[in-house]
Amino acid sequence: MGKAAITLILLCSAVMAVPVAHGIAKGPKAVEEWFQKLSHKKEKLTKLRFYFHDTLSGKTPTAVRVAQANTTSTSPTLFGVIFMIDDPLTIGPQPNSTIVGRAQGFYGSAGIKDLGLLMTMNLVFTAGKFNGSSLSVLGRNAALEQYREMPVVGGSGVFRLARGIATAKTHWFDYGTGDAIVEYQVVVIHY
Ligand SMILES: *[C@@H]1O[C@H](CO)[C@@H](O)[C@H](O)[C@H]1NC(C)=O
Ligand SMILES: *[C@@H]1O[C@H](CO)[C@@H](O)[C@H](O)[C@H]1NC(C)=O
Ligand SMILES: *[C@@H]1O[C@H](CO)[C@@H](O)[C@H](O)[C@H]1NC(C)=O
Repeated sequence: MGKAAITLILLCSAVMAVPVAHGIAKGPKAVEEWFQKLSHKKEKLTKLRFYFHDTLSGKTPTAVRVAQANTTSTSPTLFGVIFMIDDPLTIGPQPNSTIVGRAQGFYGSAGIKDLGLLMTMNLVFTAGKFNGSSLSVLGRNAALEQYREMPVVGGSGVFRLARGIATAKTHWFDYGTGDAIVEYQVVVIHY
């Protein structure tokens, strides 16, 4: 097991001391009851760490260009381009590392002068205690900077009413293809 995996497990077990009923009840009634009990619930902090694999190249890309402006190709920042993504999220940085979720959504180049991506994505967890829950990220990703801070604006399942910050740091980038592996560390407050 890699260092990242151990960190993830340690972080999760440290902050998730309260047992979460697996498969949180769904449906409008369950959601309403959840809200009615909210005043008795305590906020908790959860920290997550995983790697985001953004693959533009090859036969099975997980990031596909769906639109661009007619001026995009002459823009130094590719202003106007939009990619739809379904990127695997893994425990470690290796491409064959265990998948814990997927980043589904889109990002676009929103900066004319400086590279600044608008990230609009759901982090959909598919393993462990967060399986079936998601976090929604909406923020600016200045991808050439070392650390990029993006707001987590909400969530579903165990992450209902979540809010927090996702910090992204590029682990590996291929200038030829645009493929990237990005380390994400997420801190969220939820109930
Ligand atoms: C881009 O499209 C607009 C509207 O169709 C057109 O007026 C403009 O000349 C085009 N610009 C370029 C660089 O092709
Ligand atoms: C993952 O890939 C690395 C290097 O490419 C290899 O050494 C390792 O054995 C692989 N692990 C698994 C679980 O396939
Ligand atoms: C995640 O939950 C789904 C639906 O309940 C289930 O089918 C799947 O086996 C779970 N995956 C893991 C890795 O626990």
